Amino acid sequence: MLFLQNMEDITDKKYSRVTTKSLQEMKRNGQKISMLTAYDYSFGGLVDKAGIDIILVGDSASNVMAGHETTLPITLDQMIYHASSVVRAAKRALVVVDLPFGTYQSDSKEALRSAIRIMKESGAHAVKVEGGEQVKDSIERIIQAGIPVMGHLGLTPQSIYKFGSYTVRAREENEAKQLLNEVKLIEKIGCFGIVLEKIPALVAKKATDSIKIPTIGIGAGANVDGQVLVLHDMLGMNKEFSPRFLRRYCDLDKIIHEAISQYGKDVKSKNFPNENEQY
Ligand code: KIV
Repeated sequence: MLFLQNMEDITDKKYSRVTTKSLQEMKRNGQKISMLTAYDYSFGGLVDKAGIDIILVGDSASNVMAGHETTLPITLDQMIYHASSVVRAAKRALVVVDLPFGTYQSDSKEALRSAIRIMKESGAHAVKVEGGEQVKDSIERIIQAGIPVMGHLGLTPQSIYKFGSYTVRAREENEAKQLLNEVKLIEKIGCFGIVLEKIPALVAKKATDSIKIPTIGIGAGANVDGQVLVLHDMLGMNKEFSPRFLRRYCDLDKIIHEAISQYGKDVKSKNFPNENEQY
């Protein structure tokens, strides 16, 4: 009975400020990690106040906020703008920012310069980098400078033109083996965590069991250390995007549409403003 009580205490441990160290501890204690994206002050504050552990300022801002088809066009300056807005709202969550496409692949010096700009100009707590072996030098150099790095393997949207589709990765044995090797590499070079995107649940479980740093899944099943979703997708603001892994927690698209339509009607019908809504 006492043992059970202690187990509950551990898995319920509250963190007043989430750090990369807290995340390692959560994995050790079997406490799941929650992560969501946000790109601005208002939503960043809502996510933080709801007690989500990590806010990812993802380069999915390129799709969600700017309407691009892929994540490739977003620039470092734009990511810094989004990140600094989220940082101002985040009182508890760890804020992780994606290094955008083209700012870390060519050489490790450029990668470090990009990461330093994000940390200095936005006040974020860590950066995320897509890829394994091919970006190893960049990740190592950033970590050597004291900047925490989160890895990202499986489906890596910045490489969409290499693969040609957003289908599930690591289905074939060879690809799964390579992914498992790269997961270990990411841990070895010092990343504090890793996102595993759209891979079979069994491969994600193997990856999770093989390392001490937390794995955060998106379309990677339940046997990972935490989950991440794109905020606008889980709020039901993007109806065109319906992958199997996405759970919609509300129909914000409908709610917002109805509110805005009603406002429009009220203005046209002179129902807004009324006597109490004027000076
Ligand atoms: O940019 C992003 O939103 C991401 C998540 C899908 C993990 O990288």
